[in-house]
Amino acid sequence: MSVGTPFVRAIPVSDVPPDKLVSIDVQGTRVLFSNLGGEIHAVSAICTHEEFDLAQGFVLDNAVVCALHLSQFDLRTGEVYNPPATEPLRVFNVKIEENVIFVEV
Ligand code: FES
Repeated sequence: MSVGTPFVRAIPVSDVPPDKLVSIDVQGTRVLFSNLGGEIHAVSAICTHEEFDLAQGFVLDNAVVCALHLSQFDLRTGEVYNPPATEPLRVFNVKIEENVIFVEV
C-alpha cells in the first residue's frame, strides 16, 4: 500500500515576497518561509538557541538574523553561522503548485 504525499498546503506564494519572513504553524510545526530571489525556502521558525520566532528577525543575504541574540542561519540549508546558537535549523522540502506553497513537515 502506498503512502500519500506528505506535502501539506501552506500559504500562497504571494504572501512571501522577496526578503520577507513568514512563520506559520503547519500541522503543529512552526515553519519559516522565505523568498530568496524568487526561490521559496522553508526552515524551522524557532531559533535553536532559545524559543524565539525567527520571523521577528530579518534577512541578511541568504540568512535570517535572530532578533534576540543575532545568531544567523542560512535560509537554504539551516546552517548556523555564529553563536550563541550552535545547532542548525531543520530544513523542509517545498513545492509550488498553482502559486501555492506546499511543505513537507
Ligand atoms: S534566541 Fe536566537 S540567538 Fe538567542
